[in-house]
Amino acid sequence: MKSFIEQSNFLKGNSLEKIASEYGTPLYIYSEDIIRSRMKDVANVITKYPYKANYSCKANSNLTILKIAHEEGVNCDAMSEGEMRLLLKAGFAPEEIFFVPNNVDNKELQFAIDNNIMTSLDSIDQLRRYGELNPGGKCAIRINPGVGAGHHEKVVTAGKNTKFAIAEEDIDEAIKVAKEHNLTICGINQHVGSLYMKPDPFLAAIDQFLRIAMKFENLEFIDFGGGYGIPYHKLDDEAPFDMEELTREWTKRLDKFVEEYGYAPLFKSEPGRYCVAEGGIILGRVNAVKYNNGNKYAGTDVGMNVLARPTLYDSWHDIEVFSNDNAVVSDEKTPVTVTGNICESGDKLCKDRPMPEIKTEDLIVVLDAGAYGYSMCYSYNTRLKPAEIMIMSDGSIKKIRNRETFEEIFASMDCE
Ligand code: LLP
Repeated sequence: MKSFIEQSNFLKGNSLEKIASEYGTPLYIYSEDIIRSRMKDVANVITKYPYKANYSCKANSNLTILKIAHEEGVNCDAMSEGEMRLLLKAGFAPEEIFFVPNNVDNKELQFAIDNNIMTSLDSIDQLRRYGELNPGGKCAIRINPGVGAGHHEKVVTAGKNTKFAIAEEDIDEAIKVAKEHNLTICGINQHVGSLYMKPDPFLAAIDQFLRIAMKFENLEFIDFGGGYGIPYHKLDDEAPFDMEELTREWTKRLDKFVEEYGYAPLFKSEPGRYCVAEGGIILGRVNAVKYNNGNKYAGTDVGMNVLARPTLYDSWHDIEVFSNDNAVVSDEKTPVTVTGNICESGDKLCKDRPMPEIKTEDLIVVLDAGAYGYSMCYSYNTRLKPAEIMIMSDGSIKKIRNRETFEEIFASMDCE
């Protein structure tokens, strides 16, 4: 039996031990092949009508990954001035960027206006603010379709309990505020939330959203948001998200809409996780194994500062163990709690998970860490943010981010 990392040839023959000694741990490792193939998937979900996928770069905003997205012909959405700046730096033209912020100040809106980046406003207040800054301009508004979905309540972004978007009952007011400032609402967008494994909630939201879209005249684009899941339980053979079903069902709804609306505006989507999650892993080292009150703990250098998802949402990530570069794969398993090196009891990658033998100095590989992994890293306990490398299609290794340094942390406080 082979590990997933071996089966999928993720490393293209590179040795984990060699990588660990050259680049250190904890380390993010990406696969150029996988990321390119997922970008292609999302670029081609809708083929019958004008369509553009926007990669949602909050999932992973490494410059090399953004350049790959650009090469694969997807556009991007941005949540902040920082993301807009990165996208411009990666080579995206302003018209290939969609700014979808929440609760931003004038400075961020002005940055988008100065750079001709289409912006979506997600409250009447923000729309008014935008209108004052850019009277006579064009913008989009984000609408709550009333249907939300996601792997955890913290990532559901539509429905009854959310800070995001404009409620359907406030649309008339939004149109009035836009008129007062001579703003043209040329697009509408939605986002139901993050990670559903069946397209059903997304399709239910599409039904509502397209009904609402009929209230707007002359729309140039309709953006449906993202949220497509990936199989985090792949070692238990979880099935992937069915893109073909999505295409079929989504296109059916677009057929009906286009007939009623009279023409097809540009349709868009905003997937983040789907594009990058499976294309990234974390390599970590086991620094201590111990029993506390009969419970087995494997203490690693992959703390909650390196991967926040398990602590934040109780998220599952498959973990594989390597000993002297050989995958440890066995039928006999004992419960292990894999922890990090952070001073919090919640600093756990998993709790009491049946795992093969795991020893001090072994390496662990955390799967499916390419999305909301590095982009949510932080420096708690004054730990350094990890380095990132990419296994290129030809098997070579490219360093795509240096490990943070103590000097950088200290310099940021050198304010005199
Ligand atoms: N569009 C908007 C407006 C969003 O807010 C998001 C994600 C996306 C698109 C992309 O969603 P995706 O396709 O990646 O599901 N940190 C959480 C996920 C937070 C998602 C935030 N918004 C996690 O690690 O699960």
